[in-house]
Amino acid sequence: MNQPVLIAPSLMAANMLCLKDEVQAIQSAGADWLHLDIMDGHFVPNLTFGPDIISQLRPVCSLPFDVHLMVEPIELCIDLYHKAGADFITIHAEVTSDLRHHLGIIKTLGCKVGVSINPGTSVNAIAGVLDMVDQVLIMSVNPGFYGQTFMPSALDKVILLKKMRHDLGLNFYICVDGGVNFQNAPSIIAAGADVLVAGNSVFKQKNYKEAIEKLKHSS
Ligand code: DX5
Ligand code: ZN
Repeated sequence: MNQPVLIAPSLMAANMLCLKDEVQAIQSAGADWLHLDIMDGHFVPNLTFGPDIISQLRPVCSLPFDVHLMVEPIELCIDLYHKAGADFITIHAEVTSDLRHHLGIIKTLGCKVGVSINPGTSVNAIAGVLDMVDQVLIMSVNPGFYGQTFMPSALDKVILLKKMRHDLGLNFYICVDGGVNFQNAPSIIAAGADVLVAGNSVFKQKNYKEAIEKLKHSS
């Protein structure tokens, strides 16, 4: 995929008091996807929002909804987020011992399939499911909060995944999530990322359009 990098602003860094305005502003500013972080206070220490918020945002925003589930157990909730309007549903390798089964549920529902790994999990943990995913989300922070510091170990994972994708003849997005900023974006893009998730570096900036363009064209 030698297209320009896509930017997926993470809604958890937006102003929660005016979500409708925020998603519309981010769409006008040129965001490619809307990244929706679902946190359960169990798999990760924080809580965000759930399917009701997503289903209310769905009619006011036409960006692809990229739902990142940081939830355990995963069984009960995949269908809820599909019904709420998710385009992509990403689940963590750490939450299931039968990743193929759970990714298969997402596929059967007709959503794009995503798998994510935490900083402490190796790419090997997902090697056996790469043939069935549309995106791999590499966490470059321990999930739970926006505004954390990027962990450079994510870059080696991006490089390895890009090679595996090529060697296996596959075609999935390589996405990087956590601590992406104007300084490190060029090296993340150079490593081979197709999508940059950005909370702080978009929603906490004064001018969303400038921030998105700066991240996109920083290579
Ligand atoms: C972290 C979330 C991220 C986060 C990104 O657990 O999955 O999507 O909101 O925010 P920044 O870019 O500020 O790290
Ligand atoms: Zn995320």
